[in-house]
Amino acid sequence: MTQPAGMPRDAWATRLGFILAAVGSAVGLGNMWRFSYVAAEGGGAAFVLLYLIFVAIIGVPLMTAEFVVGRMTQESPAKAVSRIGGPGWRPLGLLFVFCGLGILSYYSVIAGWTMRYALDAARGGFGDDAGAYFMRVGTGMPAVITHLLFMGITVAIVLGGIKKGLERTAVILMPLLFLLLVGLAIWAGTLSGGGEGYAYYLKPQLAELLDPTIITSAAGQAFFSLSLGMGALMTYASYLSSKENLGREAATVAVTDFGVAFVAGLLVFPIIFHFGLQQAIGLGDPISDNTVGTLFISIPPALASVGRLGDVVTMAFFVMLFFAAITSAISLLEVVVTAVIDGWGWPRRKATLVFGLVIAVLGLPSAYNLNFLDFTDKLVGQTFLMVGGLFTAVLVGYRIRPQAEAELAQGLLHPGARAAWMSFIRYVVPPVMLVVLLFLIPEVWTKFRALIGG
Ligand code: TRP
Repeated sequence: MTQPAGMPRDAWATRLGFILAAVGSAVGLGNMWRFSYVAAEGGGAAFVLLYLIFVAIIGVPLMTAEFVVGRMTQESPAKAVSRIGGPGWRPLGLLFVFCGLGILSYYSVIAGWTMRYALDAARGGFGDDAGAYFMRVGTGMPAVITHLLFMGITVAIVLGGIKKGLERTAVILMPLLFLLLVGLAIWAGTLSGGGEGYAYYLKPQLAELLDPTIITSAAGQAFFSLSLGMGALMTYASYLSSKENLGREAATVAVTDFGVAFVAGLLVFPIIFHFGLQQAIGLGDPISDNTVGTLFISIPPALASVGRLGDVVTMAFFVMLFFAAITSAISLLEVVVTAVIDGWGWPRRKATLVFGLVIAVLGLPSAYNLNFLDFTDKLVGQTFLMVGGLFTAVLVGYRIRPQAEAELAQGLLHPGARAAWMSFIRYVVPPVMLVVLLFLIPEVWTKFRALIGG
């Protein structure tokens, strides 16, 4: 959803307005594209269970912390952290901006795929081989074109100030997307062989719960999907009144975001097993190019099997996914643009145009090479977000603890809940993230070696 920068400070007329805006930022490609591919890669159910645990013990406390900083400072994310932490915390603000640039660069490539798929569904068909089709339109020139188109639209919206209108559209389309997802998931439940898909998705293998690769990817997914670790949600809370209970808001956003992803899994996994797409998406083979395309490879053939109506539903699905993506993309771009406005004193227009162009160029390698896309996602969308989250927790839990507690106390009146929150921020988030990062760094390094080697 749109970042409310530039709106009057009382922008949220209602609590629901705030929730929908924050959910709009959180719900995006992460819930469908990323969730289904990382879950497929990570052995299904074990991943899902670990993901849920990370959302609860890291996601909700950290989101609350970001809300606290946002409401306290009333400032853009990059500026907020150095305002309250002092000049020594400037690098954290820079990291936020870097994450915005890095994530949007490939996010836009994937969002471009959704546009392409929506158009091709309207034209009726993807050919017989869904995997080959994905490789054809997902990389190279076709992907470059849709990527540039998507960035153009994002920049135009941020420039044109039609965010309000978009927000209203998204408020309608997001619930529709959710209803469509639920409907499709029910339909997928009627497919024969779907049971195997549910088993893969829902029955965790004990051994996999202890697999470091799965643990790290579950933690990374929690950060990415909840828009955490780069201050993005701070701005939303800066428009929230001091009466609101920030912990409750965070829990609501997290539960909604998880719900969307979970239903997307209920749709994708029965389809994969019913149509025998395990090979096409490279299930269980973490280095397959195609796993990144899990969602895009599984939805079209499934819906094509029900004929012309299937094409219509496919189109509707990708159109709505496009809207979910654009509301998130605007929010990502805003983190960069507001930092440049505050830091360098650039006018908004210049900042948006120049950095929109920078991101468009940064995305080109991802549009040409899926391994590069995957690598950037692991490095920035997973690792750097965790680093950002770790330091945000240290900032809130150690450096500004009394102020943070006082801020949360406005609206969250139960002292026990506040103490519990502070304990999580001090004693759970930093150590857990440190351990996860220790596991993650060699993984990222291996990926990097593979990327430059092949
Ligand atoms: N959460 C978004 C999604 O699931 C992606 C995202 C990550 C994001 N970080 C963000 C969006 C920051 C907005 C701001 O698609």
